[in-house]
Amino acid sequence: MTNHHLSRRAFLASAPLALAGCHRDLLSIPPPPPAQEITGPGSLRQHAAQHILLYGCAVNVKLLSTDPAYADLVRTQSSILVAENAMKWGPLRPTPTTFNFDQADALVAFVEQNRLKLRGHNLLWHRALPAWFAAYANRANAEQLMLQHIDQVAGRYAGRMHSWDVVNEAILPSDGRSDGLRNSPWLQLLGPTYIETAFRAARAADPQALLTYNDYGIEGEDPAAQRKRDAVLLLLRRLKTRNVPIDAMGIQSHISAGPRHVYGPGLMRFLADLRELDLQVFLTELDVNDRDLPLKPTGARDEAVAATYRQYLDLVLREPAVRVVLTWGITDRATWLNGEDARADHQPERCLPFDRDYAPTPAFFAMRNSFDRRPAIRAAL
Ligand code: XIL
Repeated sequence: MTNHHLSRRAFLASAPLALAGCHRDLLSIPPPPPAQEITGPGSLRQHAAQHILLYGCAVNVKLLSTDPAYADLVRTQSSILVAENAMKWGPLRPTPTTFNFDQADALVAFVEQNRLKLRGHNLLWHRALPAWFAAYANRANAEQLMLQHIDQVAGRYAGRMHSWDVVNEAILPSDGRSDGLRNSPWLQLLGPTYIETAFRAARAADPQALLTYNDYGIEGEDPAAQRKRDAVLLLLRRLKTRNVPIDAMGIQSHISAGPRHVYGPGLMRFLADLRELDLQVFLTELDVNDRDLPLKPTGARDEAVAATYRQYLDLVLREPAVRVVLTWGITDRATWLNGEDARADHQPERCLPFDRDYAPTPAFFAMRNSFDRRPAIRAAL
């Protein structure tokens, strides 16, 4: 290694004699930012931006309006946001004939005041359906219900969204269908073409948003993940062949720390297949579940979580089609992992780039370093 590659500090430490009498200003090496600088040029958003990446996070809209420190953290680290829940059917649809846009509108206002981008999540999912849905929806009214929802919701924010998750989690090979589709209420009511119909409706409602198919469980090297990737590719190829408007694949990236969890060539092959289909790739819901790690010592747990962020991002960011990375939350104070998929000991997870007191965790620095290590991407892509 030449001196050129050493950090200023390492260089100074390694050559005290050679430097004796040499004025600091004569050194051409720019001083590194102080280690504690984590905003502005030290933020995740700025490190990501240097590598054709948008970094952002899922937000709790209520916290944004009640906790100024949380709002500050979100604003300084992110260039793109997504509502953790506020744009799902449940919150938006109090009754079959009405909409409540209060929270969604508040988020759009926050994003526009701070000149951030916004993803919509999501237009169709088998979960978060309102309580009235099961009794109200039937084969006769379901298509109208779906089309009206997409038209009203995507239409309301048309031209202002970076992207929309049009369909979320529609693949589940273990449901046993040859096409790999999940036996969701939408499938039961409308048949397999509901996906295509939804994408066409979303394009009509907001021609500018990038339309995304989003799913989980495709990250690992285990046979179940490989089956899921195969089934997702089958769906995406079918959509592309039929000229369905779709621009991106969202890989949720709810991953886990611990020796059982590995990320590798199967995922990279999948990413290359997506690129060959002309799809961008967004990591939409990244977090690292620490439930397979011992609780103590906390430092070792944090390092293992950070190592998983590092391994996953170093791998995935090699693929030029990857353009967006969002974590599902930004602070351990507000993470869904303490509810679903919680640790067996019920202790709080340490899964995100900031801890409960909004201090950066080893995961923050691991993410930032992985962004920095991203290989150069050709501008043509
Ligand atoms: C989760 C939210 O984080 C929770 O607050 C809510 O109770 C359930 O949904 N995949 C998705 C997200 O696409 O919408 C889910 O969000 C997490 C898994």
